[in-house]
Amino acid sequence: MMQIRTFQGGYDNNLSYLIWCDQTRVAALIDASVEVHPIWDVILEEELLLDKILITHSHRDHISYLNDILDFKPLAKLYGFHDLANQFNNEQFHGVHDYDVISVGKHLLTVLHTPGHLSDCLCFWHQNLNMIFTGDTMFVGRTGRTIGPDSNIFHLYNSVYKKLLTLKPATIVYPGHHYGFQKSISIGENIRLSNFFSCNSFEEFKIVMEKFEHGRGKKE
Ligand SMILES: [Fe+2]
Repeated sequence: MMQIRTFQGGYDNNLSYLIWCDQTRVAALIDASVEVHPIWDVILEEELLLDKILITHSHRDHISYLNDILDFKPLAKLYGFHDLANQFNNEQFHGVHDYDVISVGKHLLTVLHTPGHLSDCLCFWHQNLNMIFTGDTMFVGRTGRTIGPDSNIFHLYNSVYKKLLTLKPATIVYPGHHYGFQKSISIGENIRLSNFFSCNSFEEFKIVMEKFEHGRGKKE
């Protein structure tokens, strides 16, 4: 079995996930986006070995507590998109590519490169358990925004429609922020409930995104 614990906090209802393998007690943290003490309580209570931190993308709010974690766990390995190697400039950084596989004890997560919101966006897919950690590529009810200089709406469309929406409808999405009516959702329900995920073309997707952006503020 794999266990998962969700933590909410940080800059804007960020969600960070602690996952672990029941048999080996090996754990990984997905994004360093929330205060570390509640995470640390679980690591102690459950007697876990945290040795990997997986970064969904380089936006500041997703890595803002990284140093707090590394203060406790200076040997933890960081996993992020390979072109972030310069930015992290850190011996423990492991750059990953599309379809690389990362182990967490006896569990395997497949890296999906999903550019669009940012060019370095990754999703971490547990194929056997039908779960995916989507960062800011897919939330409950919508995608991430494409308003930054490194954003690309066409890339986002391809990432969402050619990769995420082709996964089994029962796949559960664990996003990087709590922006919807619930914290996670299946791919199938997201398609059924949201216009963002039921477009027939890139042109339609652009219209949905433009309507959403109309009158929005600066947050993610
Ligand atoms: Fe972001």
